[in-house]
Amino acid sequence: MINKELNSVLKDIELSNGLPNKNYIDNKQYDVEKKVLIFDQWAGVMVADEIPEPGDTKPLTFVDIPLLLLRNEKNEIKVFLNVCRHRGMILIKKPKKIEGAIRCPYHSWCYSKNGNLISTPHVGGPGKNLHSGINKQDLGLLEIKSYTWQNIIWVNINGNAPNFEEYMSVAMNRWSEFNQKQYHGGKDSKFKLKLKCNWKLAVENYCESYHLPWVHPDLNSYSRLQDHYNIENPGYYSGQGTLLYKQIKGSKKIKFPNFKNLSEKWQNSAEYLAIYPNVLLGVHKDHTYSIILIPKGPKKTLETINIYYSKKKTNTQLRKKNKKQWEKIFKEDISVVEGMQKGRNSVHFDGGKFSPVMDGPTHCFHKWVAQNLLNKN
Ligand code: FES
Ligand SMILES: [Fe+2]
Repeated sequence: MINKELNSVLKDIELSNGLPNKNYIDNKQYDVEKKVLIFDQWAGVMVADEIPEPGDTKPLTFVDIPLLLLRNEKNEIKVFLNVCRHRGMILIKKPKKIEGAIRCPYHSWCYSKNGNLISTPHVGGPGKNLHSGINKQDLGLLEIKSYTWQNIIWVNINGNAPNFEEYMSVAMNRWSEFNQKQYHGGKDSKFKLKLKCNWKLAVENYCESYHLPWVHPDLNSYSRLQDHYNIENPGYYSGQGTLLYKQIKGSKKIKFPNFKNLSEKWQNSAEYLAIYPNVLLGVHKDHTYSIILIPKGPKKTLETINIYYSKKKTNTQLRKKNKKQWEKIFKEDISVVEGMQKGRNSVHFDGGKFSPVMDGPTHCFHKWVAQNLLNKN
């Protein structure tokens, strides 16, 4: 039954249906998708700015998995499972700077910032810190494959995804001009939104510009539907772009400085990509942003938004204005993603019908979901 429905998703857009209800409301299906669509993939977990200096650590529960993100002395970001190899205690509960070693609060086994097990007090009995049965070199922290791109720490939980640079090369090339230092705007350039919907609905809504006139009337007044184009790279990402990006201005018409050496294309264009599975990105000549979607069950999602600029110091009022503008736009989307979630309880709904012209990027994402699920069956 499910295969018939998934195969229907794979048809040409004119003949296809969207993913079935089950993929949005069912707990067992959520568990399958967690593995196939998140843990087998390169998924975004956090921005690197959360751990700016060597020794900084941050614990984070990512789709039920306790992760420990850490910047080591070589300024490399490491991602470990936040679990002690002795009895499985959670190692770090709150973000903190590690001066010496990572010490387990239970029996004090200690790990270096590279994850090596370095001390095991009294493991061989009182006063004996070694035992022949405990091989420290085999008991380091369990490391998760990770890579940092666009200030985002991406992880492949199951360790089975292709090399990141290979996998992401088309997206990286598309936006190679933005491969330059981007500065986080600080406290006023970060916010979170809680959505009562499946994470996939947030991706689907982000991909398309079809809803702009009705959901974002203010935005549409200066960035009209007809100025947008679809972007589709099957199997990797989809999204949309605008040919008329209007830069935000503050008092005395001040603007944010542009990124360096951008080609003509970016003088008026901006692009918005949903990189499958869970990262939504936007680039403009004067700022970029990322949205990381963290699934919190089949019907809940946490969005974390971070905004970046071309210079370390930018005008505070303008930065606040920019954040406010994006916050307004992303909040306008909440009612539709939550509305679609409620709609998924309609038993006879067939997954929906795509506009062959306007819904290409959404169909592209549905096909990625369906294909990955079919491959695993
Ligand atoms: S559980 Fe960590 S030292 Fe025992
Ligand atoms: Fe929107």
